Amino acid sequence: MERQKTEGERAAALQELPLLLLPWYDKNKRELPWRENTDPYRVLVSELMLQQTRVEAAREHYIRFVRELPTVQALAACPEDKLFKLWEGLGYYSRARNLQKAARYVCEHGFPDTAEGLKKLPGVGEYTAGAVASIAFGKPAPAVDGNVVRVLSRYLGDALPAAQLRKRYAEELAPVYPAGRCGDFTQSLMELGATVCVPSSPLCLACPLLGGCGTKSDALPLPEKKPERRKTPVTMLLFYVGERVALCRRKEGVLRGMYAFYTEERALTEAEIAARLAAAGAADAAVGQPSAHKHVFSHIEWEIAAYPVGCAGHEAEVAAAFGVTFYPLAEVKAALSLPSAYRWALRLFKA
Ligand code: ADE
Repeated sequence: MERQKTEGERAAALQELPLLLLPWYDKNKRELPWRENTDPYRVLVSELMLQQTRVEAAREHYIRFVRELPTVQALAACPEDKLFKLWEGLGYYSRARNLQKAARYVCEHGFPDTAEGLKKLPGVGEYTAGAVASIAFGKPAPAVDGNVVRVLSRYLGDALPAAQLRKRYAEELAPVYPAGRCGDFTQSLMELGATVCVPSSPLCLACPLLGGCGTKSDALPLPEKKPERRKTPVTMLLFYVGERVALCRRKEGVLRGMYAFYTEERALTEAEIAARLAAAGAADAAVGQPSAHKHVFSHIEWEIAAYPVGCAGHEAEVAAAFGVTFYPLAEVKAALSLPSAYRWALRLFKA
């Protein structure tokens, strides 16, 4: 079981962290594409990608992204469709939008080189500002993400949920940052959390902090109270004619501005669907059996019923009444950035 350290032990344990972690990191760090250099633009791109995406999922996206958009100027000038296509699969397109806004800010004002300055960039909070300031600019600025909280709560024996520890850890880490190796220290904490001090069944025998660890198990941090997710019934109408399917852009709410199938955020009955088609002048459209699917966002859960609707002969009426445009299925699959809340439904159409 965990044993909380005394204040004296705690200070000593924190002082010792860089001495224990840096040699371990030098020997064991993973070769990741964003570790090839410390160009601030590349660090910023990687940190925004990694905010809510696992390293393995981000790796290929990152390589493609910086190949296509190698400079802050290229990103600032990138058309939104291309940007979203490069972001597809990373989730939360608002992060891509923020990244582009940040690039435009940097083009105008220069790259901020302190955590305080970096926090002015859209999408950059306490954590990302610390990561970029330490990794790209060598500043003693802590970046306390979930990995780092896990490592420290176990090492220090702090029996609290992560949310209650984050701020304290940022304050305690700042004075122990080692001059000349700030970026490596930030990454060594993240790396230990990602590869050794993992959420369940940590590899304690491989850990450089084992001797001084107050927990030596996965007992900490204590679990958070789960946020309540609002369940929302959602009806999608998948209009199609032959090999073409109809998309619109979402006007509000989650995924605002993104491509979408026609969506109503409530459960439509089949009679209501028939009435809408009749009002559109497409009464004989062929409404198929609905497919059920669940999609989880951070605060909402969509319980989706998706109805294929064959509209041969009524394409123009449906396009006008529902505000959709028909695209070849092959183009939607290959070239348009359809969010995963919708992309799953493409398999309902024949290849
Ligand atoms: N997660 C967030 N930032 C990271 C980084 N620079 N390296 C590995 N994992 C990370």
